[in-house]
Amino acid sequence: MPVYSEKVMDHFQNPRNVGEIENADGVGELGNPTCGDIMKIYIKVKDDKIEDVKFKTFGCGAAIATSSMVTELVKGKTLEEAEKISNEAVAEALDGLPPVKMHCSNLAADALHLAIEDYKARKEGKGPIGRVETPEHDEDEHDLLEQA
Ligand code: FES
Repeated sequence: MPVYSEKVMDHFQNPRNVGEIENADGVGELGNPTCGDIMKIYIKVKDDKIEDVKFKTFGCGAAIATSSMVTELVKGKTLEEAEKISNEAVAEALDGLPPVKMHCSNLAADALHLAIEDYKARKEGKGPIGRVETPEHDEDEHDLLEQA
């Protein structure tokens, strides 16, 4: 079993901003076809700032902790600032993830960026953009996942 930092355990056991925003301005839904985990992030935008953000994650502990952390990192941020948050920054804010779990952090910032894209697409009358699947992992990574 991978060893998690205290912050990961804290966000996994007490996730922040769990739930759904009714009438969200943007929704980002991302699925990982290898492990089947799904992350959904809802944002409410006002004056180009993320006024509120919530998430629902059907996934492993690392996926839940990274979703929780990304919501904390972006609340109150401008869309431009939020777009710059990387998957690595989310993992760093959690004091790192075990190498075998790093791929789980790929969902969090990407789902947030999708929610922002969705918001922009809706604003231009082109959205919503719907769920996106992350690319398949290669077999080696899949084997690692099975052992995790
Ligand atoms: Fe699927 Fe972590 S996101 S195992």
